[in-house]
Amino acid sequence: MTEPATSPESAPESVEVTFHGMAHGGEAVGRLDDGVAIFVAGALPGETARVLVTQRKKRWARGELVEVLKPSEHRVQPPCPHFGPCGGCQWQHIELGQQRELKREVLISQLQHLGGIENPPVDPVRAVGPDDGFGYRNHAMLAVTPEGKTAYRKARSHELVPIDACPLLHPLLQEWHAAMPPLLGAHGLELRAGTRTGQRLAMVQGQLSEDSFNQATERGVPLKRAGHDELSEMVGAEKFRVSSKAFFQVNTEGAEALTEMVMSFLDPQAKDTVVDLYCGVGLFTVPLARKAAKVFAVEGNNAAVRDLRFHAKGLPIHIVGTSVERAAEQMPTRLDLVVADPPREGLGAQAEWIASLKARKVALVSCDPAAMARDAKALIANGYTLKRVLPIDLFPHTFHVEAVGEFELSPTS
Ligand SMILES: C[S@@+](CC[C@H](N)C(=O)[O-])C[C@H]1O[C@@H](n2cnc3c(N)ncnc32)[C@H](O)[C@@H]1O
Repeated sequence: MTEPATSPESAPESVEVTFHGMAHGGEAVGRLDDGVAIFVAGALPGETARVLVTQRKKRWARGELVEVLKPSEHRVQPPCPHFGPCGGCQWQHIELGQQRELKREVLISQLQHLGGIENPPVDPVRAVGPDDGFGYRNHAMLAVTPEGKTAYRKARSHELVPIDACPLLHPLLQEWHAAMPPLLGAHGLELRAGTRTGQRLAMVQGQLSEDSFNQATERGVPLKRAGHDELSEMVGAEKFRVSSKAFFQVNTEGAEALTEMVMSFLDPQAKDTVVDLYCGVGLFTVPLARKAAKVFAVEGNNAAVRDLRFHAKGLPIHIVGTSVERAAEQMPTRLDLVVADPPREGLGAQAEWIASLKARKVALVSCDPAAMARDAKALIANGYTLKRVLPIDLFPHTFHVEAVGEFELSPTS
């Protein structure tokens, strides 16, 4: 940090920065000479680097990594040639074990700063899937360039970066991706696989040319034009039908581990009434319903609700096919157990309602440490104790981390 910071009017300036931590969002954080925090993608805590200051605000700045002057011992050579410009993943330059250490540190720091929890009880991040952390994704949304090449978007940009392969994809999808002809006329390609059933879907968005369609068929890729389709996937002993418009965890082994974690914490008993909020196609609902007296399953996406109906046959599942915000009137006012797996924004105002159900345990499944911290704060303020947080590495080589928060109703509530 030897050189002066840039002013908003001046050209981007090159400065030397030493990084002291990893920020939520996956950028390394250091300080400029005047104490302002600077966030830089591709750098690592402990490193010193030359950085171009590209954005300067009152309290923070953002920079571009120019040259690592003193590398971290955890820096590795990213195996993918597209790493860097491609926004598909962010952390291939960090040794996998260290990625998990950093994910835990980010989670702890968010729980402290946004959750107001002094010593958050966060376990080490659990590893799932292949040892090298590649080949796990059962679902990818690619863009297609005007030349028909598949692409991901650059981070924080709409710019397309053409890619001919993605090592994060499950081998079943890598195979189809490699066989894909130029997709003329298309603007998007969605790939999905049931990694245990071997089923695959390749769905194109846009007006795909007849030629591209025929070439793909000749190469063994039966492209589908946007519309309804489905595949099935196994998680443990359960088979799930997943419609093309329904959510499913992108890491099947991770989905299995996550289910085990939720089941082991909630430990449903035969007399229990349970609610599964934001339940998707029923990943947790089905195993819960095999043990509990009744499960209320709340989901707002119509395609997922149809799949859920299919899975609920013969099980004590009451489907509430509406948004969580509207579910209260169709539910009992007291429940024994809750699992909630909201989208990235978290529970928000629903946390108070969930606490009002006075369930003895709440399992909060979260894919965003900041949202988990805010939701934890609200649950704690409304009578719950955070017993343990179990992070799991569902998304290796990215900064994303999934975690299960184990909350118990405090004895005085
Ligand atoms: C992170 S996914 C979890 C799904 C499921 N628990 C699983 O692991 O497969 C969140 C789910 O919540 C649904 N969803 C999002 N916002 C919702 C809302 N306000 N009310 C009800 N469901 C919602 C989405 O359609 C999606 O299926």
